Amino acid sequence: MKVTVSHEALSQIQADVVVILLPEGAALPAGAEGPVADLVSQAVAAGDFQGEFGESAVFYTQGAWAARKLLTFGLGKAERLDVVKIRKASAMAARAARASGARSVALAVPAVGGLEPGRVACFVTEGALRGLFRFRSFKSEQKVRPDVEHVLIAGPAGIAEGVEYGRVLGEAVNYARDLNWLPGNHLTATDLAERAREVCAAAGIEIEVYDKKGCQELGLGLLLAVNQGSAEEPRFIVMRYKGNGGQGPWLGLVGKGLTFDSGGISIKPTDHMWDMKYDMSGAGAVLGAMKAIGELKPKADILAIIPATDNLPDGNAYKPGDVIVGLSGKTVEVRSTDAEGRLILADGLAYAVKQGCAKLITASTLTGAANIALGPQRFGIVSNNDEWEAEVYAAAEEAGEKGWRLPHDEEYYELFKSPIADMSNTGTGRSAGTVVGGLFLMKHVGETPCVHLDIAAQAWSSDTPKDQDPGATGVAVATFVRAAFRWAAGQ
Ligand code: BES
Ligand code: ZN
Ligand code: ZN
Repeated sequence: MKVTVSHEALSQIQADVVVILLPEGAALPAGAEGPVADLVSQAVAAGDFQGEFGESAVFYTQGAWAARKLLTFGLGKAERLDVVKIRKASAMAARAARASGARSVALAVPAVGGLEPGRVACFVTEGALRGLFRFRSFKSEQKVRPDVEHVLIAGPAGIAEGVEYGRVLGEAVNYARDLNWLPGNHLTATDLAERAREVCAAAGIEIEVYDKKGCQELGLGLLLAVNQGSAEEPRFIVMRYKGNGGQGPWLGLVGKGLTFDSGGISIKPTDHMWDMKYDMSGAGAVLGAMKAIGELKPKADILAIIPATDNLPDGNAYKPGDVIVGLSGKTVEVRSTDAEGRLILADGLAYAVKQGCAKLITASTLTGAANIALGPQRFGIVSNNDEWEAEVYAAAEEAGEKGWRLPHDEEYYELFKSPIADMSNTGTGRSAGTVVGGLFLMKHVGETPCVHLDIAAQAWSSDTPKDQDPGATGVAVATFVRAAFRWAAGQ
């Protein structure tokens, strides 16, 4: 997607559609005067367009503007406006323009009190790209659906950097969405490693990929146990971005790369098992973030890790009751082979600790219970360290992503005690499933501050939100990238 900045008057911009995002009762921006502005004033006076959130109106400029059409799009009450709403409105407006056949769309950056224009421009750009994303399906007869090829961001001087951040981030989020959409037979652990190699080659990031033998040599016993029932080899992907020269301190990012989760011997029900192709969305988020980090180049050292495998039952598969041990040296009694994400992540996190990471963030579609606790409105956050948790929460807020902190009292550790090993991989009954999943991870990082994002309820949207296609959402990419910049600022 071509994205450019324009400082021209809106009436002069060469695009199929010009979009003006307008808060309730706001005047049109400078550069929109003349007969077209008069039409808009008439519509406002007649009550046909009031700027309520999501409301839109189309005006034909009849030769008075270079663009054939003007789309006004409501942002709602100015005092309730934030970057998340701006991103959403931009996405909805870009989709409306595309639906009307536009190949090029110009979006005017709205002036919003209290928000810096560069930041607004960033969210307008990110929103448009997210909104215009389509997964290229496997249908043999593709519908002819024209795509927008050029997005212009119109605004004052000084927005270019914000637009560039929004463009790179939007593309990275869409890259992750594309991966998360891919079915298990089109994205194996080996394929995921290939994608990681491509991302790293393009961005000059160092990468090592360990195959099954390599995983055995490293001692990744938990990842290998999950992989035991599969005909596909696991991959352990290690990426090193040296934005601070490689001297550290290192921030570790770890993503769950479960390319398909059948549940293993503790097999899942048939209904919706197909959804478990997106059980690698944590890995998608890490890879998307590394793509963006490679382009935006924060001055931070970042170690990114993806343990990747699928989870399938066969005669070699690991079983409930098995006691296994991985890189941290802690023994685990397997109570459910379906609680596999925490196993492969525990090895990934323990590796990051051994490599000397100062702090860790991990993202995964870890528990169905995240949806019970919080719904798809917010992802779950579990940590072993309040300060680091507050820092990652702040990064998410800044990125326009929403999580919620769950407790980590000592008492919760009681829930996954095992009579035979250091811990069990499941809790007691269905109590506090998301907390248990998170605290299981904390058992493998020692004292290193670690924040776990449980994105199980956010990674996929099954209804049709108005601002994006249903399906993969690319959640956590934006938070990771923000955290990388804050890490750079803290050095
Ligand atoms: N991948 C699933 C979690 C999941 C569920 C992700 C729904 C996305 C949507 C995970 O591996 C799993 O199966 N977790 C179990 C844990 C339980 C056995 C302790 C769960 O949530 O039921
Ligand atoms: Zn599972
Ligand atoms: Zn899983």
